[in-house]
Amino acid sequence: MNAVRVAVLGATGLVGQKILEILAERNFPVRSLTALATEGHGRSVSFRGEAVPVCGVESMDWSSVDVAFFAASAEASRTYAPIAADHGVTVIDKSSYFRMDPSVPLVVPEVNGDAIGDARLIASPNCSTIQMVVALEPIRRQYGLKRIIVSTYQAVSGTGREAMETLTDETRRTLEDQTITPSTYPTPIAFNVLPYCDKFGADDYTGEEWKLTRETQKIFGMSLPVSATAVRVPVYVSHAESVYVETEKAFEVSLVHELLARSPGVRVVDNPADGIVPIPLDAADQDLVLVGRLRRDLFVDNGLHMFVVADNLRKGAATNAVQIVESLLSRWA
Ligand SMILES: NC(=O)c1ccc[n+]([C@@H]2O[C@H](COP(=O)([O-])OP(=O)(O)OC[C@H]3O[C@@H](n4cnc5c(N)ncnc54)[C@H](OP(=O)(O)O)[C@@H]3O)[C@@H](O)[C@H]2O)c1
Repeated sequence: MNAVRVAVLGATGLVGQKILEILAERNFPVRSLTALATEGHGRSVSFRGEAVPVCGVESMDWSSVDVAFFAASAEASRTYAPIAADHGVTVIDKSSYFRMDPSVPLVVPEVNGDAIGDARLIASPNCSTIQMVVALEPIRRQYGLKRIIVSTYQAVSGTGREAMETLTDETRRTLEDQTITPSTYPTPIAFNVLPYCDKFGADDYTGEEWKLTRETQKIFGMSLPVSATAVRVPVYVSHAESVYVETEKAFEVSLVHELLARSPGVRVVDNPADGIVPIPLDAADQDLVLVGRLRRDLFVDNGLHMFVVADNLRKGAATNAVQIVESLLSRWA
């Protein structure tokens, strides 16, 4: 397999750092690595035990790389992704900017890897969408889906590095009885739960909630009703979701259990009697989507409830992006 010249935009951020970690962990064939951020500022990042200098994105020569992971802002993706793609670079974009562009595939390899086609610019979905579609795709194929209602419990790392520092600082200040001036979020997040993860629109849904709706519809290729409530909780890593689905065909819970247990990217963690349930601490630092609390709805014939948890920085971001490129490597061999 030919080694690849790789750039990571946002290499100093949470997702960018995780991409570097995962490229090393999976022995991705990196021929050269360019680490990019707003400015170099004399910074470096570590890759395979070596310090790699960080460069400012503005002066990037895009003809020097084959693949670029974009893990910066939507604005940075808007500006630089088309330039990189014009230079023949395959761009995997973690930002929201291109996700709903009809000409840009929105890809979760376990679900719709075929959608990549010949695209040079490929979008990776929102973290909360990724874990939900990985858990639901086997059920969609087997039983068909009629509707989804999801409530999320999202970790602060979903907001970036600064939010993790905010949680630590607010927790310490609360325990020391000091005043808190909210910074990352409008109100304190420590010892609190915020019933929104994003700005509210005129319809009273947040942007994050609409991402769950629209991105799921695009990935599944169907106008499925998806109603979401996205909530921020004081957890560092791993998003949890309470997912309710109505299926087209009748199901047996035990068969759904078996189906999920043999599905790619999923681990069934479901023995409540012994306290075995999916939780953020178990989902963190690994790539599988944990699914449990499977149970039939008490009132709707084809209604199924489940709890879905995954590491938002890994499968929800970096791992999904690396898997997209891995699926292309055989073509480039
Ligand atoms: N965190 C998650 O769970 C998650 C999941 C899925 C998708 N995403 C998406 O991934 C992206 C990165 O998120 P994150 O959590 O890693 O954020 P983060 O920790 O705040 O890091 C942001 C990174 O982007 C760089 N950056 C920001 N604006 C830039 C610009 N205009 N030009 C060049 N570089 C710029 C920053 O560089 P400096 O150090 O120079 O400021 C930093 O390296 C975002 O688009 C986010 O929506 C995040």
